[in-house]
Amino acid sequence: MNIWSQETYLKASRFAAQAHRGQLVPGTELPYLLHLSMVSMEVIAALQGDARFDGELALQCAWLHDTLEDTAISYATLAQEFSPQIADGVSALTKDSRLAKPLQMTDSLRRIKLQPPEVAMVKLADRITNLQRPPAHWTKAKTGQYRDEALEIYHALKDANAFLAARLLAKIEAYAVFVEDQK
Ligand code: NI
Repeated sequence: MNIWSQETYLKASRFAAQAHRGQLVPGTELPYLLHLSMVSMEVIAALQGDARFDGELALQCAWLHDTLEDTAISYATLAQEFSPQIADGVSALTKDSRLAKPLQMTDSLRRIKLQPPEVAMVKLADRITNLQRPPAHWTKAKTGQYRDEALEIYHALKDANAFLAARLLAKIEAYAVFVEDQK
């Protein structure tokens, strides 16, 4: 059984490609779309025909999750083009830049937990995707902080989806090597 439609996927991915055009994955020369496609892939792997989850909601939020934070797209545009539910999900996944930096993740996690579990799935998939080898200029302290933040995400959202939670925990454990390697 298919719990999401290819047409919805195409619309959201095309919209994201347009919104993020010209942006690169930080520290690389690769298009930002790569990050979004990896997050979407993690979400698809977790859905695997699991009818308990709304695949349409999960995949649209996956493609659109950085539009409010990193592009000129507004909440109103997302609500109109997609739905208020999608706009609310993406909004929860967006850090509140008015808060002090150290508070932003905890605040976003609190808001994600007020949303359906599909929104938490996107956050888990996002951090799974981002736990790759850190840029060479990151200090050991920064790399360690990034790992600790990943643990905070894991503990806050692990009940939303067991498959993604297990995968995130494995990625956090593997990331220890990078923390050790950093100067
Ligand atoms: Ni992201």
